Amino acid sequence: MDHSSLLLCSIVGALLMFSARASDWCYTGCESHTPSHWGDLPGSFCDGKRQSPINIDTRYVDKDSKLVAFNLINFTSNITSMINNGHTVKCTFGDDVEVSGGGLNGAYSADQFHLHWGDTNHHPGSEHMINGHRSPMEMHIVSLKKGLTADEAMAQSEGIAVLGFFINATEDGDMTGSWNTLTSYLTDQIDTKVSIEEDLSIQDLIKNVDLTKFYRYLGSLTTPTCNEAVVWTVFHEPIKINKKLIERFPANTGLSNIYRPTQALNNRQVFASPASPLPPSHPWCYDDHCEHTSSHWHLLHHSHCDGESQSPINIETRNTVVDKNLDAFVFTKFDDKHAIKYITNTGHAVKCVLKDGVAEVSGGGLGHVYSTLQFHFHWGTESHDSHGSEHKVDSKQYPMEMHIVNKRKDLSLEEAVQTPNGLAVLGFFIEAVSTTKSSSSSSSSSSSSSADSGHADSGHAETSTPSNMEVWKKLTHYLSAIKTVDQRANVTDEISIDDLLGNVNTRAYYRYNGSLTTPTCNEAVVWTIFKETLKVNQSLMSLFPTQAGYGNVFRPLQSLHNRTVYSTVASAASGPAPAPAPAVLFLLPLLLLCTVSFNLRQ
Ligand SMILES: *[C@@H]1O[C@H](CO)[C@@H](O)[C@H](O)[C@H]1NC(C)=O
Ligand SMILES: *[C@@H]1O[C@H](CO)[C@@H](O)[C@H](O)[C@H]1NC(C)=O
Ligand SMILES: *[C@@H]1O[C@H](CO)[C@@H](O)[C@H](O)[C@H]1NC(C)=O
Ligand SMILES: *[C@@H]1O[C@H](CO)[C@@H](O)[C@H](O)[C@H]1NC(C)=O
Ligand SMILES: *[C@@H]1O[C@H](CO)[C@@H](O)[C@H](O)[C@H]1NC(C)=O
Ligand SMILES: *[C@@H]1O[C@H](CO)[C@@H](O)[C@H](O)[C@H]1NC(C)=O
Ligand SMILES: *[C@@H]1O[C@H](CO)[C@@H](O)[C@H](O)[C@H]1NC(C)=O
Ligand SMILES: [Zn+2]
Ligand SMILES: [Zn+2]
Repeated sequence: MDHSSLLLCSIVGALLMFSARASDWCYTGCESHTPSHWGDLPGSFCDGKRQSPINIDTRYVDKDSKLVAFNLINFTSNITSMINNGHTVKCTFGDDVEVSGGGLNGAYSADQFHLHWGDTNHHPGSEHMINGHRSPMEMHIVSLKKGLTADEAMAQSEGIAVLGFFINATEDGDMTGSWNTLTSYLTDQIDTKVSIEEDLSIQDLIKNVDLTKFYRYLGSLTTPTCNEAVVWTVFHEPIKINKKLIERFPANTGLSNIYRPTQALNNRQVFASPASPLPPSHPWCYDDHCEHTSSHWHLLHHSHCDGESQSPINIETRNTVVDKNLDAFVFTKFDDKHAIKYITNTGHAVKCVLKDGVAEVSGGGLGHVYSTLQFHFHWGTESHDSHGSEHKVDSKQYPMEMHIVNKRKDLSLEEAVQTPNGLAVLGFFIEAVSTTKSSSSSSSSSSSSSADSGHADSGHAETSTPSNMEVWKKLTHYLSAIKTVDQRANVTDEISIDDLLGNVNTRAYYRYNGSLTTPTCNEAVVWTIFKETLKVNQSLMSLFPTQAGYGNVFRPLQSLHNRTVYSTVASAASGPAPAPAPAVLFLLPLLLLCTVSFNLRQ
């Protein structure tokens, strides 16, 4: 009868109910009262929504700083009895044993501990699982909230605290210690209480486990009547005992596979203590080297990636709406040559983190002052014709894209990611410094080549003099110091954002409401996509994929849904303003022809 045994006995006994007894259940073999039918038992909560045990998927666990160390009192007191009750073996202790701390809401009195196990064929039998892995055994120390009767405790959301310990099998562990002592008392005599007179305490049984590493969630008793009254603690580290001692449990008790199957989480959050080792926070990827490739990002914890205002998008210039409110930006301290704190390889991008409270952005129709946090890059492969920008303009994808990420100055970062205009991202396309000889006709030559590839160019293209190549050289020089994911390097060279942007025209841009382009894809971004591209030496661009060791770090295009893309007056005009080179005039009829035939083909 496990956790609830004493409690249930008293209730059932007192009421003398003449019905199917709640104790008429089993794990296997009793036909109508196996776990999937526990919900039919009288007074049962087993079909509820916060049931235990669960599979703890550590990718979705959140750390909680309130999960401090436990305070365990009298855990060294002697274990005094053991009983095989037909469902498990259960032990009690001599002194009063108390559990508090660990983020629990008050003190709890330990009542008993018992165990769950598999069978003699080494089938594992823990109740909880970690990342789908079942351990050989699990030990439960069951405590009632101090001052509550058993009935009262079972009626409260956190009336019962259970401490769960996994037990792992070792090939050659100690055969003479505390677990040998405990298992020497195992019996197949049901309901016969065995006295234990040994120097043996709970502390002896759990002694090597690091009690600061644990998971926490709200659940239920794992045996009928499955009351949803348990605040669960599941320790990360297992107790390790010799597998021959583990075999004694099924072999000497006549009980096998005494564990409840895992139950649905149903939107519950599992937390972890700060010391718990959680997997690195890269559960997602762009390519197919992980489970959560971009088409599965929406399945990630707290994800907004299947929302209706996602980024990036394809900007169709003919559908953009001119907005006169999209005025000039005011960039504060973009000329600061010491604003970059460090550069890091996130495993998804290369990111330059700025010093706090230095650079700012306002104007540009944003309506708020934004603090500049970082900028980072998206890229394709090292190949010369690679495409790695996230946004496209009239279906044209550029070699790279730079994102300058800014947060509304009046909001914390946490607030900003929950607010529709909490973040403002400035997106700049990057392409290679023209390799054609006549530099002044670079615009027209790339226009005609994009027309060749089926994309009519409607004048949004890309003219600016090359960015300051010396400064790009300085920046990309750091890439060799961050070849490993999570590595960072302090930026000590003089590099300003202005230097990186060169003299790109920042008055010509597109504007729309969208999202972060990486999980959790919060729809909190006012996007600005500049029409002119930055020009960077191809060999410097190729350092991103080669030094970081990965490529094609861009999210696929997302649906526009009912959003409108606005554009500045400058970007709606037919190209930003260099005096048209003779070549453009010459090519104009050809371009028009291409545009017409392209449209006809659609
Ligand atoms: C610990 O055990 C001692 C000895 O039995 C007892 O006097 C004391 O009350 C116990 N402490 C708690 C907090 O239960
Ligand atoms: C449990 O033991 C197995 C085999 O000895 C080992 O591979 C595994 O890593 C252990 N698990 C934990 C959580 O210690
Ligand atoms: C535990 O039991 C052993 C053996 O009966 C005894 O010698 C020892 O004093 C007990 N310890 C405590 C703390 O009661
Ligand atoms: C980088 O800068 C930080 C703080 O400015 C400093 O603590 C750290 O030691 C520096 N790291 C290196 C490798 O210089
Ligand atoms: C973005 O959304 C806000 C409302 O949340 C709206 O006022 C604003 O006009 C939108 N901007 C764009 C560019 O669509
Ligand atoms: C790009 O950089 C490489 C290596 O620094 C240099 O050899 C090449 O001339 C540069 N190309 C252009 C177009 O600036
Ligand atoms: C888009 O449609 C959604 C509902 O379908 C609506 O809530 C939202 O206001 C619309 N946005 C715009 C910009 O029209
Ligand atoms: Zn249990
Ligand atoms: Zn980005």
